[in-house]
Amino acid sequence: MSSTVRAAAKINLHLGVGAPREDGFHPLDTVYQAISLYDDVTVSDAETDSLSVAGSPHVDVAGVPTDATNIAVRALSEASCETRHHVQIAKQIPVAGGMAGGSADAAAALLAHDRLHDLGQADDVLLAQAARLGSDVPFSLVGGTARGRGRGELVEPIVDLGTWWWVVVPATVGLSTPEVYRHFDRLHPDAPAQPAEPAELLAALATGEPVRLARALHNDLQDPAIDLRPELGELIVRGEAEGALRGMVSGSGPTCVFLCDSQEGSMEVVAALSASYDVVLSAVGPVAGAHVVSTREAEWDLR
Ligand code: C5P
Repeated sequence: MSSTVRAAAKINLHLGVGAPREDGFHPLDTVYQAISLYDDVTVSDAETDSLSVAGSPHVDVAGVPTDATNIAVRALSEASCETRHHVQIAKQIPVAGGMAGGSADAAAALLAHDRLHDLGQADDVLLAQAARLGSDVPFSLVGGTARGRGRGELVEPIVDLGTWWWVVVPATVGLSTPEVYRHFDRLHPDAPAQPAEPAELLAALATGEPVRLARALHNDLQDPAIDLRPELGELIVRGEAEGALRGMVSGSGPTCVFLCDSQEGSMEVVAALSASYDVVLSAVGPVAGAHVVSTREAEWDLR
């Protein structure tokens, strides 16, 4: 038997970061949105544990571990599974791009494992397993548009009346999330304990108006990411000059995302940026969280 689960990339429409806690994590007040770039994770019964990773042409999977350190494999351990599996990951989400690709794989593996073995675990059990795997993993299960607090793992769906069109420009070399957080600490030695709240952003989401949302987008990790990679600042200026309502670094970067006024508007920005950047994608949000796309008998079971 095998089960395939699809999980989406995330962007942060608001990312308020506070001073580091005693455990080293930063308190967050964030608004996540799932957008239409997906990883598919297939978990199959097997004689021995194994993992394979493939990517869409625009995704460089060279940096994705293929051993037990891969977060999808760790997800199966978190699920306390005794049996052996083959895990197959098909990646469309940029690697180390600030779009929670690894978290999507972990969430998808948790759900695929649950469905493969017909466990029917309650949402709160899966969400607790997800939180132990990483701060963004619970959101990858939930999807849509949601507020994240704590270190990002406490997720609560919020009202979002829009259909938002994004242009996504991944970087060729990833950025390390811990490095960007460390740089935030260097730039903000006196950061308040309480992260900035997303009041205006929540109001904008409830109107569905792109111009209003564009004004309310906020990311406290943008300055540190640009300080580490000045070319990201140039990319944001360029995308806005080409007609995007607003550009921003996605999460800890280095992927940049651009909010556009419509699907047609996003296609124009894709065309303009494609002249200078190798990979320019278009995506829409919000989309669903991790969901089963197929459950199959293995070939030898079908005979
Ligand atoms: O939770 P996750 O494994 O995704 O976090 C990766 C790293 O990002 C952490 O080890 C930490 O350095 C940093 N981080 C943080 N505060 C958060 C989330 C992540 O400092 N709220």
